Amino acid sequence: MQDYIKFVESIKKKTGIDLALYKEAQMKRRLTSLYEKKGYKNFVSFFEAIDTDRDLLNEFLDRMTINVSEFYRNSKRWEVLQQKIFPKLLADNKRLKIWSAACSTGEEPYTTAMVLSNHLPISQISILATDIDENAIQRAKVGIYPERSLAEVPLDMKNKYFEKQAPFYKIDDTIKRAVSFKKHNLLLDTYERNLDLIICRNVMIYFTEEAKDQIYQNFSKSLRPGGILFVGSTEQIFNPTKYDFVTEDTFFYRKM
Ligand SMILES: C[S@@+](CC[C@H](N)C(=O)[O-])C[C@H]1O[C@@H](n2cnc3c(N)ncnc32)[C@H](O)[C@@H]1O
Repeated sequence: MQDYIKFVESIKKKTGIDLALYKEAQMKRRLTSLYEKKGYKNFVSFFEAIDTDRDLLNEFLDRMTINVSEFYRNSKRWEVLQQKIFPKLLADNKRLKIWSAACSTGEEPYTTAMVLSNHLPISQISILATDIDENAIQRAKVGIYPERSLAEVPLDMKNKYFEKQAPFYKIDDTIKRAVSFKKHNLLLDTYERNLDLIICRNVMIYFTEEAKDQIYQNFSKSLRPGGILFVGSTEQIFNPTKYDFVTEDTFFYRKM
């Protein structure tokens, strides 16, 4: 059997993660450079090592997940969320159920809490934030970031919700308390229901078309009618009606 296919099967058995649902060329390239750097000759010998070495397993997970994120990523989209989407959602319901899916190290759900704090007292905000990567979630819970992650944060928010601990910035506890983090695999685990807003950005690009299709179906079932899906700025859905979505604004879809 082909080296990579064997590796994919072994990883699935060991971790539940199905690499076959990620774009193959991209994933192979990233993992090949890791195993070569570590001195392995092929995927099968790399897996044998991963199987008994927890640190190497973590390095593999780190390489496959790609955790890059930043606060207010594509800031114009967050203005749309603040000025158009939240007022509409809040007109229906003051207690919004919000999910930041594939939240990485927390910048996205914390940004969501900051943006929503323009409409609601922070004590009334509660956001579920999930990722497949437990290390990323741990870092999110710590909430300490390098300055470059804050480049797009509006100054009033930076002053209000960050404390400088040079050379880093620490997110305020009031914002932290608004977000609960949980491990969740979008390709395997069950999804919550009756949500008002799902934010899922910059992860669909890594998945195969089949996997994307399944995830959009699941998101559609998770949203209440009128609920919104907010996607990344390279991730338009080309056939939104297939999932009972209509375009609400660029990169925002409303469940019919
Ligand atoms: C590039 S980051 C995006 C972070 C954030 N959403 C943003 O737009 O800045 C991609 C994240 O997707 C997560 N991820 C990859 N596969 C996943 C899966 N099957 N289920 C949940 N999260 C996944 C990775 O761990 C990583 O933290």
